[in-house]
Amino acid sequence: MESFVINGGNKLQGSLYIKGAKNSMLPIMAASVLSSSDKTIDLHNIPDIHDMHVMKKILQSLGAEVQFQNNTLRINVKNLKSYTISDELMREMRSSIFLMGPLLSKLGKVRVTYPGGCSIGPRPIDLHFKGLEAMGAVIREENGSITASAPRLTGTEIHLDYPSVGATENLMMTAVLARGKTVIYNAAKEPEIVDLQNFLNAMGARVRGAGTETLRITGVKELGHCSYRIIPDRIVAGTYLIAAAITGSNMQVKGIIPAHLDAVVAKMREAGVTIKVADDSLEVVESDLHAVETLRTLPYPGFPTDLQPQMMALLALAKGNSNIIESVFEARFKHVDEFNRLRANIVVDGRTAIIRGVDKLYGAEVHTTDLRAGAALILAGLAAEGTTVIRNIQHIDRGYERIEDDLKKVGAKIERKRH
Ligand code: UD1
Repeated sequence: MESFVINGGNKLQGSLYIKGAKNSMLPIMAASVLSSSDKTIDLHNIPDIHDMHVMKKILQSLGAEVQFQNNTLRINVKNLKSYTISDELMREMRSSIFLMGPLLSKLGKVRVTYPGGCSIGPRPIDLHFKGLEAMGAVIREENGSITASAPRLTGTEIHLDYPSVGATENLMMTAVLARGKTVIYNAAKEPEIVDLQNFLNAMGARVRGAGTETLRITGVKELGHCSYRIIPDRIVAGTYLIAAAITGSNMQVKGIIPAHLDAVVAKMREAGVTIKVADDSLEVVESDLHAVETLRTLPYPGFPTDLQPQMMALLALAKGNSNIIESVFEARFKHVDEFNRLRANIVVDGRTAIIRGVDKLYGAEVHTTDLRAGAALILAGLAAEGTTVIRNIQHIDRGYERIEDDLKKVGAKIERKRH
């Protein structure tokens, strides 16, 4: 087991370069099984994070050849043969479900179990199932094992009850090889959906509309290989911007697409953070933190739920009372108890957290409950007086490539300890 030990209270300075987005990389890795080419798919700007290694292991278990070197993945699926993902691998990561559509499309059959993932409340996959069934899949569930089969998938109109990111991606990946046209209404509009569309089209698919609420997909006979660079991780970028703001620092994040962070920048400005925007960077100049009346998490282009815990850390130190309404996930407030151990003053009432700003946080031992909550505890630790020890940091390694190395580069006092 490993922990982070942070000595808080000092300022950060300099700049950090942001690598590729976890949430783009995972569906794109899954989509690579759709290729019929015997040539290799090259994916660039890939972060060396735990979730990438899990997806790599899953692809290899299906017969794909996958190599990772210097932040580039090389995937060759010419020997892909298995349509079964083991329960052990399914449980390791929720995104394993992304393979359901592509495998069904490519091999006509897929067998999976219910996926695991972060403990942020119930995460059903009914929308994925409904869409696959609408395209002609027959799904059977027996003793926890889910088998879907479809000798031939057919394009259709799908109306999503909610703009689920995962369901939109799974159904897009399924539709690219289905017969005829598929239209997905009320689709998710996240930048990662646009990235997946661009990747699929680079392989020869015909997808348009990503970034709007209607996706139109015309099925093609087969897809080839390509070389593709994934978009920068807007959640890692947002985490580092909040690190700068919470420590009262002047720091820059580079190599990003600032427009992806518009809602975040707006909310941080509302909380008293001065931010400079350039073509491919954002810079926190200074901060005079005060409460925001309401922060509501929403599907894109609203404020992302994946930056809610980090923003809560910031508001814990802002003058006045703030409200955070978590409208995407049912139970994403488990980090509140941990913040309160650092002497924050936060109470939860259903889906609302009421944050009464305090002048100071104080170091203590805390436990990571999930990936983004873990990152948020690091931010709180950087601002707190004294030493903060963060346990269960394997959650953080799922989505941040050695976060301590980045933070040390800009002057943070953070060490990884094995015990
Ligand atoms: C993705 C992101 C995750 C982010 C989330 C919301 C990846 C790998 N993960 O997760 O980091 O927090 O988007 O921005 O991209 N829902 C259903 N039925 C379904 C599917 C979803 O009810 O079939 C509900 C979920 O329970 C949740 C909400 O829809 O309350 C949003 O989930 P969804 O957009 O699907 O998130 P994920 O794709 O799982």
